[in-house]
Amino acid sequence: MLTKTSMKTHGCGEVTKNETGKEITIAGWVNAVRDLGGIIFVEVRDKSGVFQLVSDPQKNPQVYDIFQKLRDEFVIKATGIVSERPEETYNPNLPTGDIEVYPNSIEILSTAQVLPFPLNDEGVNEDLRLKYRYLDLRQERVLNCLKLRHKIVKTIREYLDNHKFMEVETPILIKTTPEGARDYLVPSRVQPGKFYALPQSPQIFKQLLMVGGIERYYQIARCFRDEDLRADRQPEFTQVDIEMSFVEQQDIMNMVEGLLREVFRLVDYEMPEKLPVITYKEAMDKYGSDRPDLRFGLELFDIGDILINSNFEIIKDTLNKGGIVRAIKIPGIANYSRKEIDDLTKLAISFGAKALANIMYLEDGTAKSPVLKFLTEEQAQQIKERANAQAGDVVFFVADKPKVTYDVMGRFRLYFGEKLGLIDPNAHSLLWVVDFPMFEYSEEDNRYVSVHHPFTMPNLEDIDKMETDPEHCRSIAYDIVYNGNELGGGSVRIHSSEIQQRVFKALGLSEEETQEKFGFMINAFKYGTPPHAGLALGLDRVVALLAKTNSIRDVIAFPKNSAAKCLMTDSPAMASEEQLRELHLRVTTKIN
Ligand code: AMO
Ligand code: AMP
Repeated sequence: MLTKTSMKTHGCGEVTKNETGKEITIAGWVNAVRDLGGIIFVEVRDKSGVFQLVSDPQKNPQVYDIFQKLRDEFVIKATGIVSERPEETYNPNLPTGDIEVYPNSIEILSTAQVLPFPLNDEGVNEDLRLKYRYLDLRQERVLNCLKLRHKIVKTIREYLDNHKFMEVETPILIKTTPEGARDYLVPSRVQPGKFYALPQSPQIFKQLLMVGGIERYYQIARCFRDEDLRADRQPEFTQVDIEMSFVEQQDIMNMVEGLLREVFRLVDYEMPEKLPVITYKEAMDKYGSDRPDLRFGLELFDIGDILINSNFEIIKDTLNKGGIVRAIKIPGIANYSRKEIDDLTKLAISFGAKALANIMYLEDGTAKSPVLKFLTEEQAQQIKERANAQAGDVVFFVADKPKVTYDVMGRFRLYFGEKLGLIDPNAHSLLWVVDFPMFEYSEEDNRYVSVHHPFTMPNLEDIDKMETDPEHCRSIAYDIVYNGNELGGGSVRIHSSEIQQRVFKALGLSEEETQEKFGFMINAFKYGTPPHAGLALGLDRVVALLAKTNSIRDVIAFPKNSAAKCLMTDSPAMASEEQLRELHLRVTTKIN
């Protein structure tokens, strides 16, 4: 379908050799002007692509006069007959590079100032691009990200529609969500002193839709979370939010795999029949991460059982206090200098470790290490065998609290995966991580908090651990992971009021707090609740990863920067005295 309107017959990129001899009208932005002194070439660009116009003063002096006035980014409209270019002047870089038009009429629809930055220049500072995002959007790279996003959303809608899902919108001004980030609040004018929260996700509403009998729901849903921002986190982002009734974990996994299979076909990747599934415990033990990148090996291994019998007192002490040891073997770096090894120690410390131990396996068959003095020969040999170390390899290890050890070694593994070029940028590694723990202890809050959210079903084998051993209670929660990124997560939900109350209790919420926060939901569950489960994909992350860009800002039309600011509109902004008065608010922090 062509983009014909009353102002143009074709999109610039849509004209083909088949139109040779026909009259066309195109309109768009001046992409480039080349004045060869006597003959002027102008590239016109619109959303569909680029087309070349030519003017020769001998052929049409009026048109040539206008051509002389054209500057980059002017908006123009031109009409003329399509002609084939002489073959030696074909431009192989342009899809329309074999044709051109000598316009018989041309009109300047709007002039343009010189842009604050050149288009399609990789080196432009991101803040400047975001301030003029509407110009940034004109760049092919950015436009292509939005085109891909559109195609992905369309594919998702089609797939879910074919599978009898219904898209339902849920409210934006709500109470509070249980996802665990900070809420954005909106003050109420008509109810002084009260606030709405913006949804961190539609979680509660999609579950209530299940109570309401919707059975298969989805929504391309905007979510809001006031949290520390990173390249893969925005304060407002979009989820492909899914919920189904009368299903178990496997049903959700099958549905999401089917959906992703269609999505990945858009970038010509055919997903395997079944995705690998690993448990959270295995992911942490082998990769030090709950979103492991399996495009390369470098698996971690445990040497705690060997060290506990050694004379390595600091480490034994750590182990006796509930700590763990994880080691990694990095091949071919035993020739590293003292300084290089010291730098790696500093790196591990910057990741949170207290220290990093190393054993270097030298070419002459000996081992060199500051820690060998703590080990018997047999213990040293056991470590070498466990690592399957060869001459040239170095084994590193860290002993610390489990969380620190996993985190440091997981990041260390990724560091070497990249540094040694072990990650094939064209590889695709999709997998499920299942059996997440139900709770984790929050030092900050001094209590257990949900790893997923409090409506997640505990694994029935572990259900009594909620009261006796919360740390080891598994949940029926799952994440889908792609190349080391969490694409999405979900869970089977609790549909029994009794289990739900026990979870709230384990989370240290009093009866009153529970009623206050989630009373309406507990109440709803008393009127016949179907077993249900769901998942949400981070749409921005899906698009960014498929577009092979490393920031989700690139795939959001108007993103915020890392300080949660929109540089284009300069928000957040101050409110007027009048607005504050109406909202019954007073700003007490001094703002300069
Ligand atoms: P969860 O909190 O895991 O689950 O979020 C689901 C997915 O949303 C994406 N995501 C984000 N993307 C960009 N910026 C952010 N700040 C951000 N935060 C999360 C991630 C993540 O995997 N209601 C549950 C889902 C469910 O149980 O059905 C939920 O929101 O890709
Ligand atoms: P020394 O320098 O004789 O005290 O030996 C200590 C060695 O043990 C150093 O190489 C440290 O890097 C290492 N080490 C100490 N604590 C830890 C730890 N928690 N994890 C890993 N290695 C450690």
